[in-house]
Amino acid sequence: MVILSEWLAAQLDKESAEPAYRQLLQLMQQAILTGRLAPGSKLPSSRTLAGDLGVARNTVLHVYDQLSAEGYVLSTTGSGTYVADTRPDCAAVSTPAAADDSAGDENGAGAAFPRGDMSIRGQRLIDEAGVSAKQWGAFMPGVPDVAEFPARTWSRLQARLWKSANHGLLTYAPGGGYRPLRRALSDYLRVARSVRCTPDQIIITTGIHQSIDLAVRLLADYGDIAWVEEPCYWGARSVLRASGLKLAPVPVDAEGLNPREQDLREPPRIALVTPSHQYPLGMVMSLARRRTLLEYARQHKVWIIEDDYDSEFRYGSRPLASLQGLDDSGRVIYVGSLGKLLFPGLRIGYMVVPERLAAMFRTGVAELYREGQLMQQAVLAEFIMDGYLTSHVRRMRMLYGERRQLLIDAVTSHFGDALPVMGDEAGLHFVLGLPDHADDRAIAAAAYDAGVIVRPLAAYYSVRQELKGLLTGYACVPHEEIEPAFATLAQVIETHAFAKPQKQRRAG
Ligand SMILES: Cc1ncc(COP(=O)(O)O)c(C=O)c1O
Repeated sequence: MVILSEWLAAQLDKESAEPAYRQLLQLMQQAILTGRLAPGSKLPSSRTLAGDLGVARNTVLHVYDQLSAEGYVLSTTGSGTYVADTRPDCAAVSTPAAADDSAGDENGAGAAFPRGDMSIRGQRLIDEAGVSAKQWGAFMPGVPDVAEFPARTWSRLQARLWKSANHGLLTYAPGGGYRPLRRALSDYLRVARSVRCTPDQIIITTGIHQSIDLAVRLLADYGDIAWVEEPCYWGARSVLRASGLKLAPVPVDAEGLNPREQDLREPPRIALVTPSHQYPLGMVMSLARRRTLLEYARQHKVWIIEDDYDSEFRYGSRPLASLQGLDDSGRVIYVGSLGKLLFPGLRIGYMVVPERLAAMFRTGVAELYREGQLMQQAVLAEFIMDGYLTSHVRRMRMLYGERRQLLIDAVTSHFGDALPVMGDEAGLHFVLGLPDHADDRAIAAAAYDAGVIVRPLAAYYSVRQELKGLLTGYACVPHEEIEPAFATLAQVIETHAFAKPQKQRRAG
């Protein structure tokens, strides 16, 4: 015991801001966990230890009490305090399975290579992640101008609601979300997107990612096939893959999704499409293709997930009707988000599910994610019902339309018609085409270093990159910043895509 007191005395720092009680507790825990104090050994009396260390006896008593409460020591009245035996039972925890440090194929079967800290699917998710740390600035694609959001109106509505906040607004949000919001959204979607639904069919989520995740968990099984467009939004691809679906990339052409015979031969369980504004290329799925897809889905029991992420912003023509509005067989799960209409950090989205699935989805969302944020949902409901959503979208469409034009002008003034602008009729970005020989990943990386964010088309292809280009967002860039930021990007493109080859020295 003399040794324990000496060791403790040497470790205790009386000058430290950390109270003696905490220091002593941590030191004794450490001594027990490392075996310096062996199981069964008797601790000195509190009076003796306090005297040896020059601390108050109460301090030691508190430490002993805490050690006893946490199971480090056992105190018996009259006979003293002993170190408990808490050594792990190694024999009980070591099983043949634990000793086998291998994982095998994607499902973890078959012992092919060692499994590290991450699961195989987790590692794959991280390795192929598309998410970027920087989410704001020229020319971040897919981001609205949050500076234009009517924050005052929002805070007024919010303040009013907080004044009358009751348990109904402050608990979980069972039943698929705040009922008035679901009613407001069903009215809005009927008018703006020709979606056919009742409020009961609407499930409020935290956005499109969560809607896809929920749909896949409830409708598909591990190993089922999911069609994704080639190219497609990397985030949706990640969500599907993380749920264990086998991705089957299906080509797109000017009319949208264009399945080949080999695709049709093995019907998928899920088909994820962006018919109103193909992401990222921007084409619209033709009516004939829509009807064919719906008929195929009806015949082969395919669930179509329609990602309608930004179709309110069309420049020139009216927004197009949704695919869901044409669906008579109840095969379409329509998903949308307020992230691009209002602000991404809001994290409120919605899904419209066929009537016969609505109750199951309401239970599923509550069971999996324990949904809440009713106050935010209530503010949003008022915001929509009072007409602010419609007027904000109208104002933003004008503003983004101007920015889109300024960016197109900048492209033309730097490159003439050498670089095509694709998919610019709608949305918050367009694709700036690059010559076939260009390395769009390298150009995007160099642009990032120069302070400009663009995304390479390469990041959206799963199998074979058909087109080279950069996703270039204009919505969040103030008018006056567009030309200077594009000048920087143009410089990077010039250097990487148009640099003259070094003159060959003549032989001889
Ligand atoms: C095509 C597409 N779908 C979905 C999302 C993400 O939606 P949410 O933020 O609601 O999860 C994005 C975001 O950029 C997108 O581009």
